[in-house]
Amino acid sequence: MSVLVQGGTVVNADISVRADVLIDGDKIMQVAPDISPPTGAKIVDAGGMLVMPGGIDPHTHMELMFMGQVAVDDFFTGTGAGLAGGTTMIIDFAIPAPGASMVECWKDWSVKAEKAAADYSFHVAVTSWSDKVHEEMGILTRDYGVNSFKHFMAYKGALMVDDGVLLHSIGRALELGAICNIHAENGDAVFHMQQKLLASGIAGPEAHALSRPPGVEGEAAQRVIAIAGLLGAPIYIVHVSTQEATEAIARARATGQRVYGEVLAQHLVLDESVYQSKHWATAAAYVMSPPFRAKHHQQALWAGLVSGALQTTATDHCVFCAPQKAMGRQDFTKIPNGTGGIEDRLSILWHHGVGTGRITPNEFVRITSTNTAQIFNIFPRKGLIAPGSDADVVVWDAHASRTISVKTHHSQVDFNVYEGMEVTGLARHTISRGNLVWTDGDLRTVRGAGRYVERPVFPAPFRAIGIANGLAAPKAVTRP
Ligand code: URP
Ligand code: ZN
Ligand code: ZN
Repeated sequence: MSVLVQGGTVVNADISVRADVLIDGDKIMQVAPDISPPTGAKIVDAGGMLVMPGGIDPHTHMELMFMGQVAVDDFFTGTGAGLAGGTTMIIDFAIPAPGASMVECWKDWSVKAEKAAADYSFHVAVTSWSDKVHEEMGILTRDYGVNSFKHFMAYKGALMVDDGVLLHSIGRALELGAICNIHAENGDAVFHMQQKLLASGIAGPEAHALSRPPGVEGEAAQRVIAIAGLLGAPIYIVHVSTQEATEAIARARATGQRVYGEVLAQHLVLDESVYQSKHWATAAAYVMSPPFRAKHHQQALWAGLVSGALQTTATDHCVFCAPQKAMGRQDFTKIPNGTGGIEDRLSILWHHGVGTGRITPNEFVRITSTNTAQIFNIFPRKGLIAPGSDADVVVWDAHASRTISVKTHHSQVDFNVYEGMEVTGLARHTISRGNLVWTDGDLRTVRGAGRYVERPVFPAPFRAIGIANGLAAPKAVTRP
């Protein structure tokens, strides 16, 4: 079955051209002006609109069991919400309990993800260190299409790893040609401050932000950058939310260290005032880690995107309903951490980024899709409108507006962090694997239509970074 996207302007990360896009099956066949429709082709009218690579969200947690609760969007509803907003692929996190098998965890996640409506892949978390972890990192890269491993420097007593684990794991990933993802918050400091706040009787959601001040993130970001620098390994820091961490990444990059940074759409436009709500459930709905920050951090994050210190945008979509958040009514440390927004990321980035002149449409494509595809080694299959690429396409109406609301969103969660925000720029049509799955407000997702996307490890030159630094091949001094 072929689809012809007709009359639009194709916007890739590098160039915009007036062209039609012909799709055959799940691949793009041709990108050229005035393509004659093949017999029986479905025509998608893109007149006056932009035709862009579907968004890739590099950070989601569908149906994650976390802090005693299961996130309410599963792989079907979560990817469906993404498609309604122009996101055609997610990279979720397979997170084993410390000591559990990473390969078995990958298998568990692939069973959960069978119902996905859009393409998906998994980063796999390293939550402890052992010979088995060393071996399984090798198996996952060789046989399961995994090229990225996640580490939590926060969540003490649960998922947190110490510097020893980071050293082992980042070194092992370098050896394999994989990249490590890091949640950078000092978990010991957070725990310490949580206990002090609780002891002083501050137990509401506002204490969540107080227990994780910017320095907690800045310290952890600098520490992991230093560790990766010792090893000569690239790293990717997830959900950067502070000026401190952004500047640490920028400094590292300026000295030639390969450090990538991801920012969440939420952190770019929401601030810490959300925790001052007099309504407990509203304040709790914004509890996520890292928390929302003082406004000046937003400026630093935008600057990070514009200057290239930060390369990708994500959502960390991990949603819990009010009764689940209420588990922390008496104690903020028990509020399950997480917020949503997979459906809204592209609109938020367009409205507040392109709409304000901070970024160009091409830069928008780069930070919502192409950079993620390149960093996680699935480019040009994903992140590009070109012959041979996957037919994951969003037809973007740059002039239409909508008001974001829980009443109209497609996620299962009972709250929208952007409630009432009017945004200009929306997905008019979304094509996933060659199928028109979102058109003029009509969501036509198919359970199980998504496929697992293997991400091969990087070839030898990537692995040679440590060797180039003289770190991977130390030599003993020869003495008589
Ligand atoms: O609050 C968050 N971010 N929840 C999901 C887990 C994580 O830290 O990414
Ligand atoms: Zn995190
Ligand atoms: Zn996360």
